[in-house]
Amino acid sequence: MILQIEYHQRREQLMAKIGKGTAIFHSAPTSVMHNTVEYNFRQDSDFYYITGFNEPKAVAVLAPHHEEHHFVMFVQPKEWEKEVWSGYRTGVEAAKEKYGADEVYPIAELDEKLPQYLEKAERLYYHMGRDRHFNDVVIKHWQQLMAGYPKRGTGPMALESTNTILHPMRQLKSPAELEMMRQAIAISVKAHNHAREFAQPGLYEYQVQAEIEHIFRQHGALGPAYPSIVASGANSCILHYVENNQQMQEQDLLLIDAGCSYGYYNADITRTFPVGGHFTPEQKIIYEIVLEAQRQAIAQVKPGNPYSQIHDTAVLVLIEGLMALGLLAGDVEEIIKEEKYKPYYMHRTGHWLGLDVHDCGVYQQGENPLILQPGQVVTVEPGLYIGSETKPVEGQPEIPERWRGIGVRIEDDVLVTSSGHEVLSAGVPK
Ligand code: GLY
Ligand code: MN
Ligand code: MN
Repeated sequence: MILQIEYHQRREQLMAKIGKGTAIFHSAPTSVMHNTVEYNFRQDSDFYYITGFNEPKAVAVLAPHHEEHHFVMFVQPKEWEKEVWSGYRTGVEAAKEKYGADEVYPIAELDEKLPQYLEKAERLYYHMGRDRHFNDVVIKHWQQLMAGYPKRGTGPMALESTNTILHPMRQLKSPAELEMMRQAIAISVKAHNHAREFAQPGLYEYQVQAEIEHIFRQHGALGPAYPSIVASGANSCILHYVENNQQMQEQDLLLIDAGCSYGYYNADITRTFPVGGHFTPEQKIIYEIVLEAQRQAIAQVKPGNPYSQIHDTAVLVLIEGLMALGLLAGDVEEIIKEEKYKPYYMHRTGHWLGLDVHDCGVYQQGENPLILQPGQVVTVEPGLYIGSETKPVEGQPEIPERWRGIGVRIEDDVLVTSSGHEVLSAGVPK
């Protein structure tokens, strides 16, 4: 559990960085509606990170230079007639107490109350995100401030994204956050281990999916962190295969990419194994190349190493493996430079993991590599995919039929520690 004191500390840390600026964060707008049916609400991760508040139609303002109120919230007021339809609300009074705001207003008062927190700010911090409607609200306020600038001689002349300040913070996980992630991963490990026992020829992919997601909810997870991929046979070559509707066969590999979200912290784990318990010789060869690529890539996860080294290492092992099989030919440097391996390995080897599955934060700093630091969590997920229609790059060897229909990915969640790394998802065998 993340305690209120931690949210408070995050806001203090952020406010120290914005100085005389004001930062605005918007909640996710509302649940997704499909023809009057509400689908799951999912809070905006930045908003959640600084407030812990899990309701829609809310705004958080950080104004460290304001005389009285440094942390202000706008929330939906308590209104039983509405709550009876859409669920409980915290309301204005309780939000102040529960979330430690200096002042809380009903969201309907945003236009009236917001300007006082912007008028003396030297800079406005807001990320122009996907929420076009709220972007317009912020722009409208900014224009009004600009109009009044000559009279006051104060107001934010610059607009800066909150990402550059907040996302480096989010990238380094606190002990409490790591606890949440360990829990998400532990539940997901349990689900993967059960799925492997459960899967057998004749069952359908969705039956395995059902077992996995049952375990997620049984253990208090919110549900899948992303649509579960349960891909047997040649379906394993489709990266985001989510139909999960095929019957599994004795000779199939089964690729399961599934992880749960626990208190909004995510796991992201992939395993590939033979449905009938035995690899064919070709499956085994491909599997072992991917496994070795992953082993060597994970070994690169340590503080001080460039992030890109994880991917570069995996790519090299995969290429050497494919060359040994005669599926790639020529000069290794050239294969890398011209990405001739891409028909078989078309994605990156991982991503940051946290409150978002593809978590925030940069992977490169302009000309400079991004250097790994303790507290970051990355996925390491190399794969090889030889689909029924995979076409080699021109000039590269044709694909013998026996390799087709084999897709393997192995994905673990790895914490950068002060001495190296810890594979958080090691509980699922490879
Ligand atoms: N399951 C999403 C990913 O591996 O990135
Ligand atoms: Mn992933
Ligand atoms: Mn995944």
